[in-house]
Amino acid sequence: MSKTTVIAFANNKGGSGKTTSCSNIACAMALAGKKVLMIDGDMQLNLTISYFDEETALEYAQTGKNIYTAIKEEKDLSACIVPTEYEGLDIVPSSSLMSSIEFDLFTKWQREFILKKCLEPVRARGYYDYILIDSPPTLGGWVMNIMCASDYVVIPVEASPWGLFGIANMFEFFNQVKTLAPKLEVLGIAVTKADERKKYFKQTLETLKATDGARLFDNYIRVDSAVEWAQDNSKPVVAYKKTSRSAVEYTKLAEEIMYYGNRQKRN
Ligand SMILES: Nc1ncnc2c1ncn2[C@@H]1O[C@H](COP(=O)(O)OP(=O)(O)O)[C@@H](O)[C@H]1O
Ligand SMILES: [Mg+2]
Repeated sequence: MSKTTVIAFANNKGGSGKTTSCSNIACAMALAGKKVLMIDGDMQLNLTISYFDEETALEYAQTGKNIYTAIKEEKDLSACIVPTEYEGLDIVPSSSLMSSIEFDLFTKWQREFILKKCLEPVRARGYYDYILIDSPPTLGGWVMNIMCASDYVVIPVEASPWGLFGIANMFEFFNQVKTLAPKLEVLGIAVTKADERKKYFKQTLETLKATDGARLFDNYIRVDSAVEWAQDNSKPVVAYKKTSRSAVEYTKLAEEIMYYGNRQKRN
């Protein structure tokens, strides 16, 4: 049995903090001594450019070291892994060709399970403690692939009225995927970009606490300009400015996710 836990970050709402959460939680896990692989599943390449400059990202897109090549050719994902500057933290970059992934998947046999198959050799080696997958803001065949390849889903939600809108769709989609991947579980909802001064924020928390079938993580992430400064420097905030409040909050959230998302505990 593989010791690797695979966690998808998904929410069909754009700007909900998926990429920022995936990037920072992965780096916080690596800084805590875990072996972590990130997979950038979005054609916008935001996770890739959270770690590399655009020139390097383009090079990976052109040399086949990216998720699109692996899926299109249905090959072992190991060939597409590149190291980051942080010990124990690797990534499979994305490519703008991901814009046609739905079309490419359409003609494949057992098309919901292509990523799962490409990931199997990586899982079987058992080198990584965690694999974190960043999703695009859609609910289609590719996100279905991401979920079918995962043990858990983390749903980042922006603490705003529109942030809450659409969560029901997300759960409906999750329930559909569960018919294909019965062991898949929602690990929890992570609130991002919280502003405690706003009355609306408390209401958001109450609404999310009452969401059936999903844990609301105790640790939430407040609005912090350090997140954007870090992204501007192609670094996750947990490494760029360790003392910033978002870095501290993301480190605690990573601990909470590791506590609940332990695959060995689950099997
Ligand atoms: N805690 C935070 N404080 C301030 N800005 C944030 C925070 N988290 C995310 N952002 C910003 O919000 C935007 C959307 O976040 P992102 O992680 O890209 O969301 P998604 O991947 O869901 O589209 C980005 O510009 C990011 O810099
Ligand atoms: Mg994103």
